[in-house]
Amino acid sequence: MRAYNFSPGPAVLPLEVLEQTRDELLDWHRSGMSIMEVSHRGKAFMEVAAEAESDLRELLSIPRNYKVLFLQGGASAQFSLIPMNLTPPRATVDYINTGHWSKRAIEEAGRYCSVHVAGDAGDGYTRAPAQSELRFSTGAAFVHYTPNETIGGVEFGYVPATGGVPLIADMSSSILSRPIDVSKFGLIYAGAQKNIGPAGLVVIIVRDDLIGHARPETPHVFNYQAIADNQSMLNTPPTFAWYMAGLVFKWMKRGGGLAAIGERNRIKAQTLYAAIDASDFYRNPVAKDSRSWMNVAFTLKNPGLDAEFLTRAAAAGLQGLKGHRVLGGMRASIYNAMPLAGVETLIAFMREFERQHG
Ligand SMILES: Cc1ncc(COP(=O)(O)O)c(C=O)c1O
Repeated sequence: MRAYNFSPGPAVLPLEVLEQTRDELLDWHRSGMSIMEVSHRGKAFMEVAAEAESDLRELLSIPRNYKVLFLQGGASAQFSLIPMNLTPPRATVDYINTGHWSKRAIEEAGRYCSVHVAGDAGDGYTRAPAQSELRFSTGAAFVHYTPNETIGGVEFGYVPATGGVPLIADMSSSILSRPIDVSKFGLIYAGAQKNIGPAGLVVIIVRDDLIGHARPETPHVFNYQAIADNQSMLNTPPTFAWYMAGLVFKWMKRGGGLAAIGERNRIKAQTLYAAIDASDFYRNPVAKDSRSWMNVAFTLKNPGLDAEFLTRAAAAGLQGLKGHRVLGGMRASIYNAMPLAGVETLIAFMREFERQHG
């Protein structure tokens, strides 16, 4: 029996996609081979790759003047590669700091640019700063932010207005969770291992005028323009992860696209937050307007019960609930592939645990 998997990433994948992957594994489309055993430059894989890109373009309504790149290195590598690809030496860049992942991005950018922190939520990072609190510098090459902080469970309820300065978003844990207007962004990047597919792949959506000015020391295989010019086949891409991402995009299309998926995600998150708020035993510290739809952090009134909560939850088929080591407590990651039934089962378990220990 499959567990309900609340892991923050790598994370739950749609059962239908796993089943299809299994069914196609040994003999992909009567080729006598699996898709991971064939050349990335061969017709079969090239078609898989192109279809994944066009399905992603359709799901997000990506305008034509945006390139879509499929590459390796994870989201963390982009923390360095974005400044290297998009800015000249000593450029000023603006970063909004909302917690763990913004800080990692800021640290890396500081190696290449002069970083100005345009907003800092502070206070334990339990809310996204309001637009009126943001202070942009003049002449910044871009503004970077993390729409959803995976660890703190803090999500922006709005897209920051930057007065025309390109906006860069680390959407690792929120991409494809609801509709967005891609044209508001200069560059969007996301590690695949939450809402896209297995680990090993990162997807970048970039406005085409922003690339082509990489610093000379940028590694060629990480030069966004060169990657775009070569359909992300400059060197061997992570073919299996790309193939599975394509299956996930098809699953999303069958599921009604982003409007329908976003609505399901809203209901899942609201149901879980409502259960937490209704109890004195559980607590979520995040400001109501900044609560993540994807990562719901909560603590127990008595942290001495954390270990027992996790053991009992695992025994009940609820996995991956341990909070990040920095924050402790619990975190339920409820990405697209987590069904409402998983959230309801978690809530029933929480109520029963509270009844026994409250
Ligand atoms: C928002 C965010 N950014 C960056 C990362 C790092 O991603 P990667 O491990 O692919 O480098 C993560 C991973 O969880 C994340 O949640």
